[in-house]
Amino acid sequence: MLSDLLVKQLIEKAMEGRKYSYSPYSHFAVGAAVLCENNTVYTGCNVENASYGMTNCAERTAIFKAISEGYHRFKAIAIIADTEAPCTPCGACRQVISEFDIPYIIMANVTGDYKVVSLDELMPYRFGKS
Ligand code: THU
Repeated sequence: MLSDLLVKQLIEKAMEGRKYSYSPYSHFAVGAAVLCENNTVYTGCNVENASYGMTNCAERTAIFKAISEGYHRFKAIAIIADTEAPCTPCGACRQVISEFDIPYIIMANVTGDYKVVSLDELMPYRFGKS
């Protein structure tokens, strides 16, 4: 399990990532932070495009940053946005989270609510390597 302190630290990092959100179309700023096995943290934000479908979500930005720096094993990922309930990851991001078997997903909002779920809870019957 993740300690409360670690959960809160990762949410704080996701909030930092959110500051750089490029979201001129939706005006919906999302931040993420992924915790690598060696405790390195990569943050991410959503990056939108005039061709909407080119948009990259915050979670995938954070994960792809880590992968591109050589990290493939993760302990947790946090996602944050200005939503009423804690912000949940989209289906595409769930599939990427699944690819790397990230065991804990921390969903948060900017008012301080959060919920931690396991990968199996987030994505039952997921399609994967096995
Ligand atoms: N978005 C994310 O960054 N992560 C998600 O899991 C859901 C959606 C972004 C994409 C787009 O820039 C904006 O939120 C509105 O859909």
